[in-house]
Amino acid sequence: MANRFVLNEISYHGAGAIEEIGAESTGRGYKKAFVCSDPDLVKFGVTKKVLDVLEKAGIAYDLYSNIKPNPTVENVKTGVAAFKQSKADYIVAIGGGSSMDTAKAIGIIIANPEFEDVVSLEGVAPTKNKSVPIFAVPTTAGTAAEVTINYVITDARKNRKMVCVDPKDIPVVAFVDPDMMSTMPKGLTAATGMDALTHAIEGYITAGAWELSDMFHLKAIEIISRSLRAAVENKPEGRADMALGEYVAGMGFSNVGLGIVHSMAHPLGALYDTPHGVANAILLPTGMEYNASVSGEKYREIARAMGVEGVDDMSQEEYRQAAIDAVKKLSQDVGIPADLKDIVKKEDISFLAQSAYDDACRPGNPRETSVEEITKLYESLL
Ligand SMILES: NC(=O)c1ccc[n+]([C@@H]2O[C@H](COP(=O)([O-])OP(=O)(O)OC[C@H]3O[C@@H](n4cnc5c(N)ncnc54)[C@H](O)[C@@H]3O)[C@@H](O)[C@H]2O)c1
Ligand SMILES: [Fe+2]
Repeated sequence: MANRFVLNEISYHGAGAIEEIGAESTGRGYKKAFVCSDPDLVKFGVTKKVLDVLEKAGIAYDLYSNIKPNPTVENVKTGVAAFKQSKADYIVAIGGGSSMDTAKAIGIIIANPEFEDVVSLEGVAPTKNKSVPIFAVPTTAGTAAEVTINYVITDARKNRKMVCVDPKDIPVVAFVDPDMMSTMPKGLTAATGMDALTHAIEGYITAGAWELSDMFHLKAIEIISRSLRAAVENKPEGRADMALGEYVAGMGFSNVGLGIVHSMAHPLGALYDTPHGVANAILLPTGMEYNASVSGEKYREIARAMGVEGVDDMSQEEYRQAAIDAVKKLSQDVGIPADLKDIVKKEDISFLAQSAYDDACRPGNPRETSVEEITKLYESLL
């Protein structure tokens, strides 16, 4: 079967990228924007940076901000109702993965009303029409939802995160502007940055990886591991690099899938509202250890991309360990906890393991797994 690759129509990168929103909107003949953002971003004035651009360009908009981190089916449903009322003709999503994913679900449902229950969108749904056009402005350097064909919505009734995969949802234009990320506090920068690193590493070793996706993932590992510490210190060059690194990772993983780390992180977000990046960061070294035996020489390249010296003189065992150690060191340096002791309750493990096994990212894992083995992996972190 041929390999498919889906990317934005256009993307803008660098400080000031959001200024392009005006010309892109008017040039496409759009009349009214439905702006999706979250309450904190509105409060901190981050959303306003884009609203000012829309106002300067004379573009009408309605603001929808009933979106919580790890957004729910309910957030999507009220968003769909608000979109219908607004009579907008495109969506401007401003935020982290939560705002952008909610925008994608709204855009898909408006164009495909038979999926208005939201839950029938889980996995690869047979939608017929392209989403309402979406402009995406990331405010975290993590999920890369601005360039992925995925969105993740929590079904609160079942305590499940639904991963939805649909090339019809990809934002038409992405505006990746590091100035939109400069207000992130340290902990959020660290967590979202480790999410981006997890995309790059899981995407590099995933079952469907091939030469084109490898190119993006290796470059992303290099950029992210050299710049995350500086981004956490809010240095402009670190912010600029992370904005690029998370996007490059997204160009890759969106097209080939992820693996067991994301499968195990999603149930933690659903059950405990654990921030997505924190869950991934804690699980990543464990997932890498589990997958080492099926990864051929890939960990040598991960270690090299992370700046480890002398990898060509190392044995297989040595370079695999070096790659895992480099990830652990970065995680520790940016303040991520080393285990799940403060997050997971023992009595929930069988639910978590089943949920991780059922997750849409699990089939991408390069090593065959089972509910029993996932149970042991969770237990190893308690
Ligand atoms: N679509 C995809 O491909 C994809 C990939 C990975 C994860 N996800 C999903 O994305 C969600 C996580 O997104 P996220 O990690 O970007 O965080 P988020 O969107 O959930 O935001 C977390 C918090 O950070 C705040 N915040 C965001 N940007 C800020 C800024 N610049 N300054 C100050 N505060 C800011 C928000 O207001 C919010 O309170 C999860 O639901 C996850 O499952 C989606
Ligand atoms: Fe992620």
